[in-house]
Amino acid sequence: MLVPLLIAIHVIGVVIWIGGVAFVTMTVFPMIIRMESSMEKVLFFQGVEHRFAKIAKLCVLIAGLTGAWLLSITDRWSILFERAGVGPSVMLVVWVFYVLVLLFEGRLFKMIFRGDAQQDTAKIFIRLTAFHWVVLGLSLIAIFVGVLSAHGGM
Ligand code: HEM
Repeated sequence: MLVPLLIAIHVIGVVIWIGGVAFVTMTVFPMIIRMESSMEKVLFFQGVEHRFAKIAKLCVLIAGLTGAWLLSITDRWSILFERAGVGPSVMLVVWVFYVLVLLFEGRLFKMIFRGDAQQDTAKIFIRLTAFHWVVLGLSLIAIFVGVLSAHGGM
């Protein structure tokens, strides 16, 4: 009973977090790109991202803890980076990438928006959108490979 329960909690964490990334990428960024003023763009983006970062951090923590717990109780840490563990291995790599982005998010944003007045805000948001599509793509690959490998599809 514990394993299915942990998988269910793990998947809920993943759904809220990656669903949020999909929403920001597919809805919030196109809205920002259409805004007229640079100041409005930056304030709206920082408001949304600041709020979502808190939710994402909690979900990343839940997914990481339940994922690690699942590997521990099923005694399968050794399958990581082996053919049999392709699903959890891809999940772990994507998870570590997210942890790094969330940890250094403050510094990343400062670097991105430094000297905003001189920079072309429209270009910054196009680059940010591209970055979010890459992150979303990696997340979807982790879900795709994870489900396939858990159900005998790989
Ligand atoms: C980007 C982060 C992650 C995503 C998108 C993700 C996605 C998923 C999904 C969709 C499932 C359900 C598979 C199914 O039963 O159909 C799952 C299960 C599982 N995940 Fe993750 N996960 C992530 C992070 C992690 C981490 C960090 C670990 C381990 C440290 C982990 C270990 C597991 C394990 C052990 C299962 C049970 C299924 C199996 O044994 O293959 N996951 N994950």
